[in-house]
Amino acid sequence: MSVTTTQTSSYQTDALIAADIDAYLLQHQHKSLLRFITCGSVDDGKSTLIGRLLYDSKMIFEDQLAALEADSKRVGTQGQNIDFALLVDGLAAEREQGITIDVAYRFFATEKRKFIVADTPGHEQYTRNMVTGASTADLAVILIDARKGVLTQTRRHSYLAHLIGIRHIVLAVNKMDLIGYDQEKYNAIVADYTKFAASIGINAFTPLPISGFMGDNITSRSANTPWYGGPTLMEHLETVELDVTADQQKPFRMPVQWVNRPNLDFRGFSGLISSGTVRPGDPIRVLPSGKTSTIARIVTIGGDLEQAVAGQSVTLCFADEIDCSRGDVICIADAPAEVADQFETVIVWMADDSLIPGRPYWLKLGTQTVTATVQAPKYQVNINTMEHMAAKTLELNAIGVANLATDRPIPFEPYATSHTLGGFILIDKITNATVAAGMLHFALRRSQNVHWQALDVSRETHAVLKNQKPAVLWFTGLSGAGKSTIANLVEKKLVRMNRHTFLLDGDNVRHGLNKDLGFTDADRIENIRRVGEVAKLMTDAGLIVITAFISPFRAERQMVREMMAPGEFIEIHIDTPLADAEARDVKGLYKKARSGALKNFTGIDSPYEPPHTPEIRIDTAKLTPGQAADLIIERLIP
Ligand code: ADX
Repeated sequence: MSVTTTQTSSYQTDALIAADIDAYLLQHQHKSLLRFITCGSVDDGKSTLIGRLLYDSKMIFEDQLAALEADSKRVGTQGQNIDFALLVDGLAAEREQGITIDVAYRFFATEKRKFIVADTPGHEQYTRNMVTGASTADLAVILIDARKGVLTQTRRHSYLAHLIGIRHIVLAVNKMDLIGYDQEKYNAIVADYTKFAASIGINAFTPLPISGFMGDNITSRSANTPWYGGPTLMEHLETVELDVTADQQKPFRMPVQWVNRPNLDFRGFSGLISSGTVRPGDPIRVLPSGKTSTIARIVTIGGDLEQAVAGQSVTLCFADEIDCSRGDVICIADAPAEVADQFETVIVWMADDSLIPGRPYWLKLGTQTVTATVQAPKYQVNINTMEHMAAKTLELNAIGVANLATDRPIPFEPYATSHTLGGFILIDKITNATVAAGMLHFALRRSQNVHWQALDVSRETHAVLKNQKPAVLWFTGLSGAGKSTIANLVEKKLVRMNRHTFLLDGDNVRHGLNKDLGFTDADRIENIRRVGEVAKLMTDAGLIVITAFISPFRAERQMVREMMAPGEFIEIHIDTPLADAEARDVKGLYKKARSGALKNFTGIDSPYEPPHTPEIRIDTAKLTPGQAADLIIERLIP
């Protein structure tokens, strides 16, 4: 990393650079790094403040400087002498260009610390950007225009910063010059904010009277505010405790990133220590299995260590050969993390397509990736008023509280304790897009209290008694494609071959078990989830289960596939062009749908996602139902 100084850089720094650039860079590398965000709008003077910090910090990293030099050449100053006003103009212009998508990260440094500041857009439609920028921040600067006081956006930004778990909040009351450095007005704003902050759980914050434009209390104490006795903004940024320092005080945890096994003699587990300290000889416990061992070695490229702390990447070797793989969490044995599969969570929705309760998403937490489903939200939070509102789903930028279930138990910690083991993202399984960021509140008690009952008569026993291999023949296709007709023929043929079967049919199941469900996306997903669970129980009973449901979405068919034992799920696409199904219109439903009398009809105003690689595809234009049934039987029982 190369550093360029401006004309104003201090004499010692210059001397060190001149004498020994390597020593200078080394010193620089070992400085601690503070990440912070600035919240507020351009009107609050955000660009001016950031410009002031960059300008007064006397050191600007080269990429930043290059852009500024280009600008300064334009107005004829030499690259050495960056004008403050010019710097601010440049930042403001950059922000306007980039406002729609990104969080702008800027780097600067003083002699004490390095800084990364995430400059996030302030409007409500950029909530997800702010959450992204804030997710790794140690500190948030909430900017207030001294003339305006606490505004809706101040409340929104504070709520989000607190939600994301930023431990240090700075209330920067800016533009003090424009209110004549009036102490009483300043005190009133601080009192106002204190009341609001307490109501959302922020118990401590650092208020500062500043002027980004004039430079008051930014790097040096201002003569204009003799009544202010606290630190300058820069002093505060340089001395505030970093998250990584706080994490070192907590019990030891390391999520395993990969298993290192170059040869038979060496087996190590590599990862980034998320909290605590570890030494050779420490007793450890691997989660979720709960297996225990002792740390034998702490290996790094630079040699073995006697101790490693949060923030370090290391490879740990155990004294015993116990199972441990990617996604597991190595914990200190007597204070391990918790393990659960159902949670209350806060979710920030970040995608244009809204949350679909019940749909399986990938959940990434620490180094683990599992499948998770989210229930309908308990409520959504109005981020301007903090009111709780009823919600069936979460739209882009919405924040809600919802229960979430993972497909297997995972090691975790509440987000308030650990951002690494309590913060997660959700990923759409089809598009691979990140759709949400979330925070685990706590595990639901029922997941700890409902255990699997070990059954003495096993599923194998059931299958052996019936003299068959259980399976699910999962028919999917448009309404009127012929699923039920062919499924019926298949079942009759199987029964003639002395097979034990059961047919679950959409129209019938919807009269009983699923009579509470309609045809919205969410209801169809729940329909398929329940049918999947029933089919699974029936395979446990040793049956060959035949299901005939439209099952329009790939994600849920995939979910059911993953619920079954490997090889037991056989997807059969009854492939009929929409025009043919509509022309036959056995139940007259297409006609109704076309006339608008029936809403959300598959193929008309509700989507059907055909399988990409079904086990069996039946082209109904080429085969009669009888031929189709024969083909399926042949594939099942060759
Ligand atoms: S699924 O989409 O949830 O899998 P399912 O197979 O259970 O649907 O039910 C489909 C049957 O319900 C259709 O064959 C049709 O008879 C009836 N039906 C009633 N309304 C609709 C609708 N809006 N869309 C599709 N099918 C409907």
